[in-house]
Amino acid sequence: MRPPRPTRPRPSPSHPLVPPSREEPAVHLLAANENPYPPLPSVAEALADAAGRANRYPDRAATELTDRLAERLGVPAAHLALGAGSVGVLQHLLQSFVRADTDEVLYAWPSFEAYPHLTDIARGTSVRVPLGPGAVHDLDAMAAAVGEHTRVVIVCNPNNPTGTTVPGADLERFLDRMPAGVLVVLDEAYREFVTDPRSADGVALLAGRPDLVVVRTFSKAYGLAGLRIGYAVAHEPVAARIRAAAVPFGVNAAAQAGAVASLAAESELLSRVEELVKERERTALALTDLGLAPAHSEANFLWLGLGERAAEFGAACAEAGVAVRAFPGEGVRITIGTPEANDTALAVAAAFAPRP
Ligand SMILES: Cc1ncc(COP(=O)(O)O)c(C=O)c1O
Repeated sequence: MRPPRPTRPRPSPSHPLVPPSREEPAVHLLAANENPYPPLPSVAEALADAAGRANRYPDRAATELTDRLAERLGVPAAHLALGAGSVGVLQHLLQSFVRADTDEVLYAWPSFEAYPHLTDIARGTSVRVPLGPGAVHDLDAMAAAVGEHTRVVIVCNPNNPTGTTVPGADLERFLDRMPAGVLVVLDEAYREFVTDPRSADGVALLAGRPDLVVVRTFSKAYGLAGLRIGYAVAHEPVAARIRAAAVPFGVNAAAQAGAVASLAAESELLSRVEELVKERERTALALTDLGLAPAHSEANFLWLGLGERAAEFGAACAEAGVAVRAFPGEGVRITIGTPEANDTALAVAAAFAPRP
């Protein structure tokens, strides 16, 4: 007999998918893994231009953006599927591949909180595999959990909320072990922040792997979270199926224009990413010196496995005007922001750290 499907509470203002940063005013918003920097002037100009034409429908096929992305990634345009954020793309993907009330979607836990929600929307069954040592995906345990009902496996790399990555060689071995017909989704929302040379680039793994899908976004490194634009890269039959499930005109004109302008300004945006990576390393070191030892992060956030002290730390941050994301009983995720914001979080951490 199949286990009963998990039920989930309805989203409320304190639901994980509603960033706490929206609930209460805070000076520093380090709760939603957003980019702290506003759009570049060239991007803002493209957005203003799109706003002036808002009476018109957007290009339903997002032709210009698809072509620019295809060039940038070195893949045919037919290998791309765009959506309203990468959660939009994931929703289309799960709705088109998961057979309702039959199929399972397998992912690590803790991981991105949208996975259970999107699996529920597709009426699939979530199967969660605990992270292994170092808060890293336990790929062996995940491979062992794949069964006859598994339709989709999601590997979040780097993983939200821990920031950890799986070594590329391990990932390739894992992909090679997947049975035919199991779609593996590599969620690379934070790919641009990865500096570990052992990490794999998902797009490079697509050759010869028809059941692999890489999902990326303009929300994080490119700083366009408010516009809602993300994409999948996959072999044509898979990409076409995702596109077929998409909401017509779901990628609005401002999102298309902003993403095109961001690709044109990519080197400037990626130097901001470099600054954020430097800040990540500085903040991680300072937390380690305080005895709080964050997990090794390759993303734009740090994870403190504080367990029972997580809620207390979150409350202390809120008191100091910093919104962080506390997972009561588990840990705290701190987004890397401006140096000033990170210093404010560090000051709270210093007051909170275990005394020697
Ligand atoms: C792992 C992961 N994937 C996807 C997303 C969704 O990003 P968006 O829908 O803004 O592209 C997020 C956002 O926090 C994330 O952490």
